[in-house]
Amino acid sequence: MSRSLFRTKQIDSILQDADSTTQGHGLRRILSLRDLTFFGIAAVIGAGSFSSLGSAVFSGGPGVVLLFIITGIACAFTALCYSEFASRIPVAGSAYTYAYASFGELFAWIIGWALIMEYSIGNIYVSFSWSDYFTSFLDKTGESLGMNLHVPDYLSNSYPEVKKAITSGNMNKEMQDAWTHAPQLNGFRIILDLPAFLINVLITFLVYRGVKESRNFSNVMVVLKLAVVLIVILVGGYLIFANHLTTNWLPVNSSGTQSFMPNGFSGVMRAVAGVFFAYIGFDAVSVLAEESKNPQRDLPRGMILSLVICTIVYILLALVLSGAVHYSLFDGVGDPLAFIFEKQNLNVGWMQFLVSICAVVAMTSVLLVFQMGQPRIWMSMSRDGLLPPVFQTIHKKYQTPSFSTIATGFVVGLPILFTDKTFVLDFTSIATLFAFVLVCGGVLLIPRKERSAGKFHLPYINSRYLFPILVLITAILIFSLNPNYLKELLAFDYSANEAYTQGRITFMDAATPAISLLLFWISTLILAINAFRKNYSLIPLLGLVTCMYLLTGMTKSNWIWFIGWMLIGLVVYFLYGYKKSKLSLSNSSD
Ligand code: ALA
Repeated sequence: MSRSLFRTKQIDSILQDADSTTQGHGLRRILSLRDLTFFGIAAVIGAGSFSSLGSAVFSGGPGVVLLFIITGIACAFTALCYSEFASRIPVAGSAYTYAYASFGELFAWIIGWALIMEYSIGNIYVSFSWSDYFTSFLDKTGESLGMNLHVPDYLSNSYPEVKKAITSGNMNKEMQDAWTHAPQLNGFRIILDLPAFLINVLITFLVYRGVKESRNFSNVMVVLKLAVVLIVILVGGYLIFANHLTTNWLPVNSSGTQSFMPNGFSGVMRAVAGVFFAYIGFDAVSVLAEESKNPQRDLPRGMILSLVICTIVYILLALVLSGAVHYSLFDGVGDPLAFIFEKQNLNVGWMQFLVSICAVVAMTSVLLVFQMGQPRIWMSMSRDGLLPPVFQTIHKKYQTPSFSTIATGFVVGLPILFTDKTFVLDFTSIATLFAFVLVCGGVLLIPRKERSAGKFHLPYINSRYLFPILVLITAILIFSLNPNYLKELLAFDYSANEAYTQGRITFMDAATPAISLLLFWISTLILAINAFRKNYSLIPLLGLVTCMYLLTGMTKSNWIWFIGWMLIGLVVYFLYGYKKSKLSLSNSSD
């Protein structure tokens, strides 16, 4: 049994299957390098940068720029691993397909199941953020035209969010209004985020109609989005120097110390989850393998190019934000790019308006890319027999995975009616990091391949000595900066943790980061020994370790929900996929 659980699919047979199941009715190969790069940017710059950048600057100060660089590097290692797989296995399915070829069927299923959280659940968060910006854009437009374009609060907030705010005594006017003015049906208040729901219906329709239409729409949105972000950087940057605000880059913190990192490095690291979310999306390029004209050459380039462009944009944006306004004023600011241009800050009215339009556009393109990704992953899983055959149905006229696209519309659309933002954001980040860990680990497992012209090849750097030395240097650095590091980690002593001593969090909440860190160090040591014994390739190894490190930032409740979701996935696998798998039917387990 265990052997068949880890049965792997040979790369040649994955390629053959993709060919034979789509003969005559395959996806259209129309995407060029530029389209793929644009898809990457379309997926990356969105809700994360427009919403969570404010709280990231608040907790890290200007030093958050360092975190954007570190996370960018971690994502670059991962992008190189995705690229290696994408060039060897250029079929739709992304990390799911790669895991099938390296770790075997059970892990492939687990990854496929986790990717639902990245693609579909992630889109629920983006839909909510889209709705926030869209309604405030309508408000601003209404104000400037002297009209009332306000969407009632009970039709622009989700029920759980409003209910939570009311029960916890939150005095937020919008929430109070939503609760008070909501119409009632048999005593039940009708409160729903209608714009979030409708944008999902529109995006589903667009993706169903075809990749060409989606591509054109997406490319236009990316150009617009980049243009506005560039204007924000130029206007903001100019005003920082013109108004002599550069001292904001070395702010004075609450205890009177002047520093680039006013809350220390731990303050910078507290922003990890938000910053990581801002980077999610470059991997979505890999699901377009079967629509790409030259996937083996263009997928890796598209992924890496989009990542480089977004990293530069983020670094500049973080500098502009932290320079324009003192970091401490970003507390609770959900629209930081518009906020810096408000009256009390840089005072540029038309920029506020432009930023709201841009936010709506940026998030629409994120929605589009993720909504295209999910059906293609399900299509691959269905080809392998792990999901019912209907998931691989391709529309005769539009040549898109029609059933899977509609199913995605439901999976994203229905929860919009009964979930809230914070919950879905956590889900998305942990699952994506988990997928990244498995992709980097997977590259370590596949055999090395001869170079061939025109294809991407991950440069091989032997980690035999380098990796253990790097681990040693890092450990020495940590110990010299904090000689009590190990003691603190093992003692589980949280007397310095204010939230714990004040009873705001439980012992387990306080202990989760330490437990994760301990597991991280144990895994890193095991990897160092294996690197020495097996001459692992350095790049995937660094990708694996950096992503594992980012996972240590996840909270206890993230882990509980994630594990719960995975257990449900396992039940589904054993009830259906394990028996129906093509590998099981052809009895070709290895
Ligand atoms: N990176 C994407 C965003 O920020 C998910 O919206």
